[in-house]
Amino acid sequence: QMSQKKLEERVAEVKEKLGKRLYIPGHHYQKDEVIQFADATGDSLKLAQLSAENKDAEFIVFCGVHFMAETADILTSQNQKVFLPDMRAGCSMADMANIQQTERAWKKLQEIFGDTILPLTYVNSTASIKAFVGSHGGATVTSSNAEKMVTWAFEQKERILFLPDQHLGRNTAVNLGVSLDEMAIWNPIEDNLEYEGDISRVKVILWKGHCSVHENFTVQNVYDTRRKYPEMKIIVHPECRREVVELADLSGSTSYIINAIEKAEPGSSWAIGTEMNLVNRLIKNHPDKHIISLNPHMCPCLTMNRIDLPHLVWCLDSIEEGNVQNRIQVSQDIARDAKLALDRMLRIS
Ligand code: 13P
Ligand code: SF4
Repeated sequence: QMSQKKLEERVAEVKEKLGKRLYIPGHHYQKDEVIQFADATGDSLKLAQLSAENKDAEFIVFCGVHFMAETADILTSQNQKVFLPDMRAGCSMADMANIQQTERAWKKLQEIFGDTILPLTYVNSTASIKAFVGSHGGATVTSSNAEKMVTWAFEQKERILFLPDQHLGRNTAVNLGVSLDEMAIWNPIEDNLEYEGDISRVKVILWKGHCSVHENFTVQNVYDTRRKYPEMKIIVHPECRREVVELADLSGSTSYIINAIEKAEPGSSWAIGTEMNLVNRLIKNHPDKHIISLNPHMCPCLTMNRIDLPHLVWCLDSIEEGNVQNRIQVSQDIARDAKLALDRMLRIS
């Protein structure tokens, strides 16, 4: 077993040797031991934009989760290879919508609402779901452009189906003036629409999925923080529940949160409702500000955390040896339709 120092030296060595042939994008939720080697860091929108622009790299070692690596593969060209250092780095939210469930949902929703719905999917979804959405005229969405994309969707159709995160969907729709009684929930386990009242009023159909990391931030956490630190500003990710976002001072994507903390006055105090690695990095990088996690028990994303230094080294070793292990390769027909959805988003945002 190699020491931390040896592992770090090894990454540096391969990076030096492969130069521009190797590109390592890293999501803000990645561990510091990995992020120190990232050629670029970003939220999911920025990482998708960078993939679409990158024409040089032959090997893209994606430090993030599976759906992000799939997106990178879809947006890069055939001769660029995308790798994920640990194939178990999935996303429990993306796993909450599969293509069979989506096709069944779509059929039933067409029966109820006819041709009045446009599907949108959060990028936190499998390539097959993106392909479904792309081939039905819809687009992908990230937490930093959701309002823009939902506004665009309402210019196309009367209603939207929002997959797979009910919280981002609800938070975005509320911000755009849609009332809660104009939203229904699609339950993919029971294959039915959860709604009471006059169904013709429904404008937004929320897929019943969520992020198990962000659901850990509760209204109680907000009350406790307000009582203990009356001066503290609360900033959360829109994957948090509606009630939490409602009580917070600010909400936005990971990049939005980072910007807000960077712009904040020295001496100001902040409680942050998002993944633990990012909160810890902000605490470390801003010793002049008082920063805590909104949930004192902290909330790690276990799948993001699967990408660690040993896995990164293993992946780089295998690339250097000419192997294609852990390559993420979306099949061509799925990639083609998924790209329609991603390109619509990249064009608008
Ligand atoms: P953003 O980086 O787009 O804010 O997304 C957060 C997230 O949960 C990624 O999995
Ligand atoms: Fe998925 Fe939530 Fe982890 Fe993001 S934080 S990768 S949405 S499980």
